[in-house]
Amino acid sequence: MLYVWSKLSSQKWADAWEERFSGGAQGALVITTVPGRTMIRVELYCEKEKVALEVQKEFGGSVRKVKQQNWAAISAEPPPPVKVRDALVICAARTKAEMAAARKAHPGREVIGVPPDMAFGTGHHATTATVLRLLVDEAVGFAAAGKAWRMGDLGCGSGILAIAARKLGAESAWGCDFDPKAVLVSRENGTRNGVPEVGFDEVDVLKWKPTKAQCWEVVAANLFADILENAFPTIVKVMKPGGVVFLSGILHTQADECLKAGEAAGLVIERRLKVGKWVTAKARKVVG
Ligand SMILES: C[S@@+](CC[C@H](N)C(=O)[O-])C[C@H]1O[C@@H](n2cnc3c(N)ncnc32)[C@H](O)[C@@H]1O
Repeated sequence: MLYVWSKLSSQKWADAWEERFSGGAQGALVITTVPGRTMIRVELYCEKEKVALEVQKEFGGSVRKVKQQNWAAISAEPPPPVKVRDALVICAARTKAEMAAARKAHPGREVIGVPPDMAFGTGHHATTATVLRLLVDEAVGFAAAGKAWRMGDLGCGSGILAIAARKLGAESAWGCDFDPKAVLVSRENGTRNGVPEVGFDEVDVLKWKPTKAQCWEVVAANLFADILENAFPTIVKVMKPGGVVFLSGILHTQADECLKAGEAAGLVIERRLKVGKWVTAKARKVVG
């Protein structure tokens, strides 16, 4: 059973709702916009009634019970597909037929189907979309140089980044999340997208002891500033010398401090991109 808290809100608060519930700790956020209308419906799907009621106490609105298996049906209208450069399109396709239709509609692009389930990462959030763009550019660079690369995705959510890496030519990709639901959803998405070999494991990056083999040319860490700051020593450890990491989920008000901590841990910040209130950075582990 799931409990959904819902409330109508002005469209101008959409970012604020996203930020308030980012990370998915309280539940999965669904924002429905109605074309031509200035109101949005904000819904938070929670596993515990207590959590939904606490959100109601804080923000008003209403709480109702929903059956979990109807998730697809009760979710908002499928969000529009997200195109990344000329390489990828991320859409809400769930079934084989929907995947086939999406491929037909987007010839020349790798299609990644990520239905809006119980994990963060449909490609719509600025933090995910920016990492996807950087990942495409990095993959183009590897292909041009004829270099093989592998990818590790820390805080995989829906698995979107690791799946994208494999589609973009990574020899292998692996992702982890401390939320067991995210790991399950990621595995499902790997299979849905024809890359079941992408491994996803339940790992808390703050307690993680990586093996020697867990060391990558490309690492993605869309994890929020405070977690990044504490995880930097581990992040640097799992990067190959000369490898890159995409750091995301950083509020711009926290970016200076967060990226300084990254530099202190041995990273060189090569790019810093701001989209809305979010900062994403590309950083490199210097050789030697
Ligand atoms: C902003 S989402 C990013 C999801 C996906 N990688 C993307 O780019 O859309 C952050 C994810 O990190 C996970 N996470 C947060 N703290 C973590 C930790 N300490 N260890 C592992 N995963 C964590 C959350 O459960 C969530 O799925």
